[in-house]
Amino acid sequence: MRAEKRELRRWMRLAASILWLAAVGAAAGPQTIKPGEVWPDDRGQHIQAHGGGIIKVGDIYYWFGEDRSQGLDPSKRYVGCYSSKDLANWTFRSRVIQLSAPEDFSPRWVLERPKVYHNAKTGQFVMYMHIDDAYRLARVGVAVSNTVDGEYRYLKSFRPLGQESRDIGQFIDDDGAAYLIFEDRPAKGFHIATLSEDYLTVEKEVCLIRAPLEGGAIVHYKGLYYAIGSALTGWAPNPNKYATATRLEGPWSEFQDIAPPEMKTYGSQSTMLLKVVGTKATTVIFMGDMWKPKTQWDSRYLWMPLEIGEGKLRLPEPKEWTLDVVAGEAVVKK
Ligand code: DGJ
Repeated sequence: MRAEKRELRRWMRLAASILWLAAVGAAAGPQTIKPGEVWPDDRGQHIQAHGGGIIKVGDIYYWFGEDRSQGLDPSKRYVGCYSSKDLANWTFRSRVIQLSAPEDFSPRWVLERPKVYHNAKTGQFVMYMHIDDAYRLARVGVAVSNTVDGEYRYLKSFRPLGQESRDIGQFIDDDGAAYLIFEDRPAKGFHIATLSEDYLTVEKEVCLIRAPLEGGAIVHYKGLYYAIGSALTGWAPNPNKYATATRLEGPWSEFQDIAPPEMKTYGSQSTMLLKVVGTKATTVIFMGDMWKPKTQWDSRYLWMPLEIGEGKLRLPEPKEWTLDVVAGEAVVKK
């Protein structure tokens, strides 16, 4: 009897080590990302983080975006938050925003493209979002939380620097400086602006890039800034374009296509450029949304590692690829 118990324990220990090794292996090894496919979270549900953005806290990535799940209260707007250590396997954390019209808005009010900043001085997490009413107000909204995946408290909305603001993008430079990118229709361009010390307001314009582009995103890669954006075609895809500059203030180069223009960014629209700096390499990920305006909950994600360097940027044809976040290496499958 005793011998049997001992044997059983031995087997259980062996099984536990196998499971542990499998888990560690899964966390450390390259993980597969499949552009355009349903992307299940840890619950097996398609990730709801459209028009999203990512921040890294410690060694965990947090992905925030519009939660457009079916069956939600149509009078409310929702933001989902997910976490991951490898950028491929995502755990649902919570709906960090479940908001009823925060001001005197019509039923056609809008909350889009949420982006979260962590303010090291105040310790607060500050969310910016495009807040609108039938796309007539063109403002940003600000909400705060003491924890990254806690409930965000809506504070206010305003026009940054008094200007119209529609699609917003987030850029954190290598020195930690935080910028808001916002599209301004009358100015026919997009602004790059610094945030105030507490991040609760937009402080100063760094540059107005005079190109009528939305879905604005920026990455700082090997001494150059690359800005990317999409043409103003609503939910329909178009050829996204990029420009470069040695300083955020500009001058910025002419905009060029990131992929063959007839491919219309392979059916996607830019939302963020995510830089993964590893021990061996640096990968810049193009994060795009493949919108399905009539079935928004089923909108997909097109993430691909960019071919980037020396002033050139190219979005390769979408294929399955693997990412090793520790090494910073991406491999696109043949
Ligand atoms: C394009 C924007 O990029 C989206 O975020 C959304 O505002 C749609 N337009 C609405 O048509």
